[in-house]
Amino acid sequence: MEQDSNAQTATPSKVIGVATQRIDAPLKTTGTAVYTSDHHLPGMVYAWPVTATISRGTILSVDASEAQSMPGVLAVYTHKNIGPLYRTPPTVGFSMRQQEHRPPLENLEVYYYGQYVAVAVAQTMEQARAAAEAIKVTYQPETPNVATKLLGTPLTTPGMHPGSHRGDAAAAFAQAPVKHDAVYSSPAETHNPIELHATVADYRDGKYTLYETSQAVVNHRDVMAAVLGVPPGNVRVITRFLGSGFGGKLWPWPHSALAAACSHNLQRPVKLVISRSMMFESVGHRPAIEQQIQLGAETNGKLTAIVQNYVNHTSMIDDYAEGCGEATPLLYSCANLKITSGLARRNVGTPTAMRGPGAVPGLWALESAMDELAWQLKMDPVQLRLLNEPAVDESNGKPFSSRHLKECLTVGAEKFGWSQRKPAIGSMKNAQGATLGWGVAACSWGAMRSDAETMVELLANGRARVTCGTQDIGGGTYTIFAQLVSHETGLPLNKIDVALGDTKLPPGPVSGGSWTTATVIPAVLQATQNAVRSLLMLAASSPDGYFAGSHAADMEMSDGFVQPKGQPAKRVAFGEILGRANVKAVFGNAKSEGTLGRETKYSFHSFGAHFVEITWQPEIARLRVSRVVTVIDAGRMINPRPARNQIEGAIVMGVGMAMLEDTQYDPRSGAPINANLADYLLPVNADCPKIDVTFLDYPDYHLDALGARGVGEIGLAGVAPAIAGAVYHATGIRVRSLPIRIEDLLAAPQTASA
Ligand code: MOS
Repeated sequence: MEQDSNAQTATPSKVIGVATQRIDAPLKTTGTAVYTSDHHLPGMVYAWPVTATISRGTILSVDASEAQSMPGVLAVYTHKNIGPLYRTPPTVGFSMRQQEHRPPLENLEVYYYGQYVAVAVAQTMEQARAAAEAIKVTYQPETPNVATKLLGTPLTTPGMHPGSHRGDAAAAFAQAPVKHDAVYSSPAETHNPIELHATVADYRDGKYTLYETSQAVVNHRDVMAAVLGVPPGNVRVITRFLGSGFGGKLWPWPHSALAAACSHNLQRPVKLVISRSMMFESVGHRPAIEQQIQLGAETNGKLTAIVQNYVNHTSMIDDYAEGCGEATPLLYSCANLKITSGLARRNVGTPTAMRGPGAVPGLWALESAMDELAWQLKMDPVQLRLLNEPAVDESNGKPFSSRHLKECLTVGAEKFGWSQRKPAIGSMKNAQGATLGWGVAACSWGAMRSDAETMVELLANGRARVTCGTQDIGGGTYTIFAQLVSHETGLPLNKIDVALGDTKLPPGPVSGGSWTTATVIPAVLQATQNAVRSLLMLAASSPDGYFAGSHAADMEMSDGFVQPKGQPAKRVAFGEILGRANVKAVFGNAKSEGTLGRETKYSFHSFGAHFVEITWQPEIARLRVSRVVTVIDAGRMINPRPARNQIEGAIVMGVGMAMLEDTQYDPRSGAPINANLADYLLPVNADCPKIDVTFLDYPDYHLDALGARGVGEIGLAGVAPAIAGAVYHATGIRVRSLPIRIEDLLAAPQTASA
């Protein structure tokens, strides 16, 4: 195993890097964690939207007469009486993010199946739903376009949009002695967190309190203030717990405005929980994508050309661009590269980020192509990747802050037993005689920090409290905050309270991009240090204090106690110092500036490698992913326990992407026809392989003081192409269109061939 020259070892800590149970685990396992739809307010009523049953056309009439006389019904709102809902203005920087810009019920146009066309409000959810279903809407339908053919179809722009490029990729490809040229497609995938999107809106005295299912409460507040036409100070957004989001809950969707408007109009709290089928319609999805990849190489495997041309579908009303070219320019060394992209409009809801947006589908294509190139070269696919390792990020010439992809590949190969691989197709069998296929893929995901503010309080009761307007979407952010405060103060985790998910708190980052941990590290460390400084000054300055006459500079906080530096025998519990000084709490505030959108000296990325074994039983057409070995280089793991959980979950999601997930739109109506958890296939326990995750754990001190880069999304990148490569190794069938179906494999050769 080779040693990386830029490897750094982490400084020891009692809490950083220690596998720690989530501090909120007892709340979750006892059912006492309060999720958005758990909020019950006095006088609360329920809203249920009416959704369009065409995907293109015009509303001719809405007849709510029957619905309005049904039991418990309070109101029916349409475009005529919902009241003003505004569009968000264009903004500079990373704020006011919204994917579907059209406010609900803006006019009579229908752009996608499931678009809200009215909303019923009643005393109970059942009454509201019954009323919504009794509202009769007539339409002038037009023929929708939900075609999945994308490359070569009309785009939103006159031509393909140029992306990253260097050298002369077309010429290099034309001259390459070895060429691979193929199209890879992936279908629309729908986020299916168990928690449905929901809003509990409480309007009173000109102000809105919105309990939301949000991965970004601060942005949600700003968007909703714009949509509702009130100052941001009149909107408070709360998300204490989230039943996962995967990107689907990053930005506000129209149901939030509907609930807020209903509460405003009725002057009562309103709960709106969308149904599972609405989850497939109006809250985003990963778009369908077609990508052409051309690889040119020397006969020794050295890449000479990479071309990636891709088109993703978007809605009729918004431009959502999936950045499939994100990882392509930096994963391998190649002098000639060209990426182009385009958007094709379809009568579907507006797409959005889904876990690892861009890189995940982009690497499905690039890494599949690399595997195909390795076969063509008769070269080991691990070797092909090692051979094309770049020295710097060739897209911008910057050094990588910390890159250990080669070690991911070599460590993974060792753990997997890759040296035992027999290259001939269908030649490997397990003890039961089933055919085995082995595949590999590399992955990458950008690393960055955004801006953050936090406050830390040390209280006379001996507890600490840290607050930030970010949120824990299930990944373990509450625990990370407690660990950071513990790291600086020595206080045990059970003496640290963490408050997140509320716009009343200091503004924090979105929970997206796998950047929350790295983002909050500088602000929490600094805020804690500021609080400790205040405490030490208090200890030294109180005339009747324990340390009267000392200098703050000669004092320290250690294990939760204040003491003269290096003299634990003289220590005093910090709460007693506050108590004797008659001070309730000392405070530390801090604000950190991120790297996001700013020029940086280094190229910050995480890397990884997946090794996959599939088991194929052609006689019963049974395909299973049996084993995955994953090695991740994502900086230092602050809490390896939920980090491992993130990667394991991502690998399961990768099994879904590779073999199951596929949102299908009916070409006649434009309806997503498998809009439920019976027909939209997701991996269940029986589909899950044995998973072995290794973190290289090299700290990236260029990004933050603790060397964390963040983890979560990277685990999904590369899984699907590794599975497709393994399927080819077992069957000789190359599937370039996800998901891989049994039907694709029925023509598989039954005997081994070279
Ligand atoms: Mo992630 S797709 O940035 O929530």
